[in-house]
Amino acid sequence: RRDLLMLGIETSCDDTAAAVVRGDGEILSQVIASQSDLLVKWGGVAPKMAEEAHALAIDQVVQKALDDANVSESDLSAVAVTIGPGLSLCLRVGVHKARNIAKVFRLPIVGVHHMEAHALVSRLVNKNLDYPFLALLISGGHNLLVLAQNLGEYVQLGTTIDDAIGEAYDKSARWLGLDIRKGGGPALEELALEGDPNSINFRVPMRQHKDCNFSYAGLKTQVRLAIESRNLRTDDIPISSATEEDRQLRANIAASFQRIAVLHLEDRCQRAVEWALKLEPSIKHFVVSGGVASNQYVRARLNDIAEKNGLQLVSPPPSLCTDNGVMIAWTGIEHFVAGRFEDPPLADEPDDMQ
Ligand code: KG4
Ligand code: ZN
Repeated sequence: RRDLLMLGIETSCDDTAAAVVRGDGEILSQVIASQSDLLVKWGGVAPKMAEEAHALAIDQVVQKALDDANVSESDLSAVAVTIGPGLSLCLRVGVHKARNIAKVFRLPIVGVHHMEAHALVSRLVNKNLDYPFLALLISGGHNLLVLAQNLGEYVQLGTTIDDAIGEAYDKSARWLGLDIRKGGGPALEELALEGDPNSINFRVPMRQHKDCNFSYAGLKTQVRLAIESRNLRTDDIPISSATEEDRQLRANIAASFQRIAVLHLEDRCQRAVEWALKLEPSIKHFVVSGGVASNQYVRARLNDIAEKNGLQLVSPPPSLCTDNGVMIAWTGIEHFVAGRFEDPPLADEPDDMQ
């Protein structure tokens, strides 16, 4: 398995990423080109702009991943690429590139599900992580609680009925007038450190629903109302120009938001652990992954839930929690080893699968 060499390509959202990973999990290279400038300019991911940015970056990103790993295309065993979920215009850029390489160098292709990759990269990080395990996947677009019974066998225990937690972090950060160049989530986490998490009593979502689903739209609205009712002119006064008193108010909102957003995760995860242990009593690990899992407060609180229930928390390092090429390459390896891949495209086949 050590001889296996996988290139992973990820273009589902706003980062163009590629990596080369060995079959035994050794990461040979990891390259990411971020579109954070575009995000600030457009206030979110604009699909057409993102597609153009991916198209401009993809060749260089893949070439750098190969160069950094000191390999060429002909050394590869296969190419793994994200095929969804994500923005289809953006996904196509990665798929096109992957199919081109596969065609020219006669390589098999592995199509990878982005959320499965967020979950399975934890098996690269922790070699003792065996099925079955429980996974909480928290990102900008998804909030999933999944019981992973085997490769490709997942039982969904919960999902969001409206927004994902990352979306709530991103919007709240923008409404609070934070500098979101490095992402709304990290900016809000930093400001929250200065605030009193008990200063505002936001309502915890869905307490009356005894299931494992999530809802973040209502909490988002509560944040907006908290800003408006305090007359914080966050639209025209960025946090860097705010008075000390104004800054403290914003920090209090950030900290209170974070406390409740994560309390909602804790509620649902506690119930999911109970459900999962009933279905699969041999579970030993609780995986927390996806961009929001790079948040230290989130990790600490969910570690408590794991410990309370006798489970071990497995959460990848932040660079493998947020979107990256390694998780795609690794998930490609898992499927490839299990014999799940496509043959190389024929020379006269069109490059697009979609
Ligand atoms: O997994 P990811 O990189 O992309 C998607 O698949 O969506 O997750 C991105 C999300 C964004 O909403 C971002 O603000 C959030 O993860 N995020 C964080 C932190 N770092 C990234 N949220 C809270 N705290 C963080 N430190
Ligand atoms: Zn993601």
